[in-house]
Amino acid sequence: MQSDALLVFLGRMHLAVLHFPVAFLPLAAGLALLDARTPNETRARIVRLLARAGAASAVLAVLTGWIHADAEPLGRTAQEALDLHRWLGMACALLAVAGALLRGRLHSPALAASALLAFGAGHLGGELVHGEGYLTEPFRAPRAGERVEPVPTDAPLAFGDVQPILQARCVECHGPLKQKGDLRLDAFDARWFEPGEFGTVVVAGRAAESELVRRMRLPLDDEDHMPPAKKPQHSVEELATLERWIEAGARP
Ligand code: HEC
Repeated sequence: MQSDALLVFLGRMHLAVLHFPVAFLPLAAGLALLDARTPNETRARIVRLLARAGAASAVLAVLTGWIHADAEPLGRTAQEALDLHRWLGMACALLAVAGALLRGRLHSPALAASALLAFGAGHLGGELVHGEGYLTEPFRAPRAGERVEPVPTDAPLAFGDVQPILQARCVECHGPLKQKGDLRLDAFDARWFEPGEFGTVVVAGRAAESELVRRMRLPLDDEDHMPPAKKPQHSVEELATLERWIEAGARP
């Protein structure tokens, strides 16, 4: 019990430790580049110091990151991003250690590569915490999680009534930019009604049998739940509107 708590604590230290290589390695690489042009003994000493600090903290970030990843399990898709994050992080640490130990021609290229990898791993790590596409989300319209007005309960439903809901909650991953699960929800699509790999996306007249509704109704911690747990979730009214559209025949 006690050792479990310690492991979780060490794992969470990853979120603090990771900032050191992200700062030290680009600094070391930048100064090393300058030093290659106009050698300077003091600067070379600072580069060595920064490179060692960068390498040591990168190794520490990998170790704590490994513990953190084991302590907090993720869904299937996040696991793929995590694997890539882990490889980039390890490559970064390896090159940082090489950069700190090597002398001569390979010294600054190794540092520069480790600095780039630190940014790459850092960005992927950010997406793991905040969700895929977090950085560029402000430039995409409309924003995910935008409030959608519920349709009045007595209105006849057509695709135009549910389109804004899908647009706000789903199109980020199922639209022109990405087609997760090979599914697009940005425009009415006859293929929704054909059985596919995961079931039939929409069964006209039967909301409960439609994969789209089934996934939105799954508990938040189910890895098939849509939208994925880290994303802004639909309201009860939005789900009810989608269900009514399907029950009413899922017309275009
Ligand atoms: C952050 C990205 C993301 C968002 C947002 C998202 N999905 Fe998905 N969706 C996925 C991924 C990844 C898969 C494929 C992997 C899987 O099966 O879990 C998927 C698969 C699906 C599938 C199964 C594919 C098929 O052909 O049957 C359905 C249905 C689905 N999503 C519906 C939705 C609906 C409805 C919304 C909005 C309410 C939504 N998704 C929002 C990422 C997302």
